[in-house]
Amino acid sequence: MNSELTKLLEIAKQAAEKAYVPYSGFKVGSAVKCIDGSVYSGCNVENASYSLTICAERTAIFKAISEGHKQFTAIAIYVDSDKVFPPCGACRQVISEFAPTIPVVYANLNETIETTMDKLLPGAFKL
Ligand code: THU
Repeated sequence: MNSELTKLLEIAKQAAEKAYVPYSGFKVGSAVKCIDGSVYSGCNVENASYSLTICAERTAIFKAISEGHKQFTAIAIYVDSDKVFPPCGACRQVISEFAPTIPVVYANLNETIETTMDKLLPGAFKL
């Protein structure tokens, strides 16, 4: 893995510490790198009304978008678990809206997987 992705994954790992997960217990963090080099991170935030939960990836992307960044060069996701956590379908669609081909790295306590958005969501829905 190149140093850019290694750094991004480390930021995602730190973001996972902030996760609010009283229901699932899965602490997830994500970090997205913008074309100007800035990085936005996010964690999952759960809710007693379960479906209102937001994933770490969408927290990170929405933070970046709301600060004026729409072009991304890579995204990292980390879960503090031995389960494998590739981005869920909703997050794939949201990431793909802005960055349909960027490198994606996702990792857990034991393994790190590198892929790309076009592999994770071929034939993405677009208007
Ligand atoms: N989760 C994420 O943060 N990202 C994903 O891509 C998949 C799932 C979170 C949502 C919920 O808080 C917990 O993981 C279990 O589904």
